[in-house]
Amino acid sequence: RSATNSSPESHGTDLISKLPMRETPSEPQILYKNFWFRRIFLERIMLLEATFKARHDDIILATNPKCGTTWLKALSFAITNRSHYDSGNHPLLTRHPQEVIPTIDVEIPLNGDLNFIEKLPPPRILATHLPLSLLPESIRIQGCRIVYICRDPKDAFVSRWHFVSDFFGEKTDINVAFNMFCEGVLDYGPYWDHCLEYWRESVKSDRILFLKYEEMMLEPVKFVKVLASFLGVPFTGEEEDAGVPEELVRLCSFKTLSGVNSSQTEVVQRGSVVVKKSAYFRRGKVGDWVNHISEEMARKLDDIVQEKLKGSGLVF
Ligand code: A3P
Repeated sequence: RSATNSSPESHGTDLISKLPMRETPSEPQILYKNFWFRRIFLERIMLLEATFKARHDDIILATNPKCGTTWLKALSFAITNRSHYDSGNHPLLTRHPQEVIPTIDVEIPLNGDLNFIEKLPPPRILATHLPLSLLPESIRIQGCRIVYICRDPKDAFVSRWHFVSDFFGEKTDINVAFNMFCEGVLDYGPYWDHCLEYWRESVKSDRILFLKYEEMMLEPVKFVKVLASFLGVPFTGEEEDAGVPEELVRLCSFKTLSGVNSSQTEVVQRGSVVVKKSAYFRRGKVGDWVNHISEEMARKLDDIVQEKLKGSGLVF
């Protein structure tokens, strides 16, 4: 196809072959605008860039993979739909959080058909793993609200290492995967740059709510209230008196969602990949890294991250 009549997809494919590439023990990683992606993600990201039109009331849930996307999706869905359901008949007791809120960069079909999000009722809640600098331009122009969640990089690494085995069937040696993580070469990496971009913007702008997994685990009710206010649907005094925030925290807890029958037996389609729903519920703990990486590895990663975040005000 000629450059003049190429589709967004073929344009992306042409461009991808010219980008810097790193071989890895699994699939090659491609550097696109300072972030690394494997090809199947990058093709969709370029397609999204070319086709997605944000609406001013869209709410974007942005996360680095394995930092609490599933939890944030469940909470946001439960908060914004709380007048429609009670906890006995709630959709989250039958549907996976990944099914109620789409991750646009992962799920956009390769024909570019955005019908899967066009049909959502406003305000649309859309998730993405994209770094801030790679979000489609219209999200910034429209001034959409963004919720970002990040996590201790050591736990994010361990969670990711387990997940790629379910998602891609990759069984990379943990030491090799760790070195790639420390170099920043992994999908949507470098990890710290992803966090820093959202952090810096959140300091300047109240259109970004910056959350940390560990803080939310410590005080979930407090953060559910913060999230509800940010989403434009704060809890009323009566709801608080009736314990609605606590009820939603229970509904969206790791214990409840991982115990849902379909979460244990079914699969979910994520773009071109089909993955077990249970892969999204591993341990749900803070500090599980101690069971998988050595103190020495932990120190090395902490040192790298500390250096990268120096002066930013962001600490893990
Ligand atoms: P672990 O692998 O450490 O257990 P994501 O949803 O971004 O893919 O992140 C997955 C991580 O969040 C996994 O971490 C998973 O167990 C944890 N998780 C999933 N649902 C959760 C929930 N409702 N509450 C807290 N953590 C949850």
